[in-house]
Amino acid sequence: MARPKNDNFLRALLREPVDYTPTWLMRQAGRYLPEYNETRRRAGNFLNLCKNPGLACEVTLQPLARFPLDAAILFSDILTVPDAMGLGLYFAEGEGPKFERPLREEWAIRDLAAPDPDAHLRYVLDAVREIRRALDNSVPLIGFSGSPFTLACYMVEGGGSDDFRTVKTMLYDRPDLLHRILEVNAQAVTDYLNAQIEAGAQAVQIFDTWGGMLSHAAYREFSLAYMQRVIEGLIKSHDDERVPCIVFTKGGGQWLEAIAATGCDAIGVDWTTDLGEARRRVGDKVALQGNLDPMALFASNEAVAGEARRVLDNFGPADGKGGHVFNLGHGISQYTAPERVSVLVETVRQHSRHS
Ligand code: CP3
Repeated sequence: MARPKNDNFLRALLREPVDYTPTWLMRQAGRYLPEYNETRRRAGNFLNLCKNPGLACEVTLQPLARFPLDAAILFSDILTVPDAMGLGLYFAEGEGPKFERPLREEWAIRDLAAPDPDAHLRYVLDAVREIRRALDNSVPLIGFSGSPFTLACYMVEGGGSDDFRTVKTMLYDRPDLLHRILEVNAQAVTDYLNAQIEAGAQAVQIFDTWGGMLSHAAYREFSLAYMQRVIEGLIKSHDDERVPCIVFTKGGGQWLEAIAATGCDAIGVDWTTDLGEARRRVGDKVALQGNLDPMALFASNEAVAGEARRVLDNFGPADGKGGHVFNLGHGISQYTAPERVSVLVETVRQHSRHS
């Protein structure tokens, strides 16, 4: 199978020469797009949308129809994995994700098992296949999963949290129980990402949204070590093409060297990290992805363009070498005006194109 017609994203991840700096945006399909809200309304709710491959395909393609983005990302959610483990995911309106059966009892933790993706997450794999058909090799498709630790946060807390008190209490009081959950999660994430790759995902990203709130020592023991285990178990190439892996630890700027040593191909960085300094620190080991502050998109068109150029210049001059994928430092806000995204994507392309 040939690479997509526009393969700048894959080339940047593999640090091969590019025509310009490729762009995609975390949460690029979502509530800031009126057409997304319309499809979601037809689906009834967010989970129905995730579980219907035809509708998931439709919303995956919506941002690509509006903006000249260089990659599509599978429309789904990181919490489909614990849902497949039987925890009972639901979304209470305006309250974010919740689990009917949070994982707290020792017996339930002992019973926890990695789901078979072909049996329990088939709707995701069907969506991957349908999206690949619809993309018709125009741009690459990114698959994704939560990190073992970030999934554990939601599983133990039973939803989001301000301070992650329950999971951190387990970490300090009963590290054996948390390690047991993380072992199962690492297996589940490895199997899930490999199933996505076999279904057609051409790159994968691990979202470690909450690793950055761990202590320095705990990050390595409870988050990084398990991401490393996942990366070691990933299929490295499919259809004769390398499948790059991106690790995004929000707030992970102080651990870049350690993340680079996991064997990932690229590191996603948030907006608190200096991209130029990050590049000097990781050298030629990995590519970097990021890192515009998503809130910059609330300023004027001129300010958005200025901030986009600042990110590009901070990484370094566009000299035809790959190694940078432009992105936000975290997911796009639902209150963003789509016009700002147009300005952003156009500016990145113009400013980074070399003759
Ligand atoms: O990037 C993409 O476009 C792909 C789709 C995607 C979604 N969630 C869709 C979504 C991806 C990659 C995710 C990952 C995800 N989900 C993460 C990690 C990324 C991050 O933000 O750090 C996390 C922590 C979750 C869990 C989750 N799902 C939360 C906390 C919420 C509520 C968020 C909110 O703002 O209300 C969701 C719901 C969700 N996932 C939405 C979307 C588009 C909004 C749902 C809606 O339509 O109401």
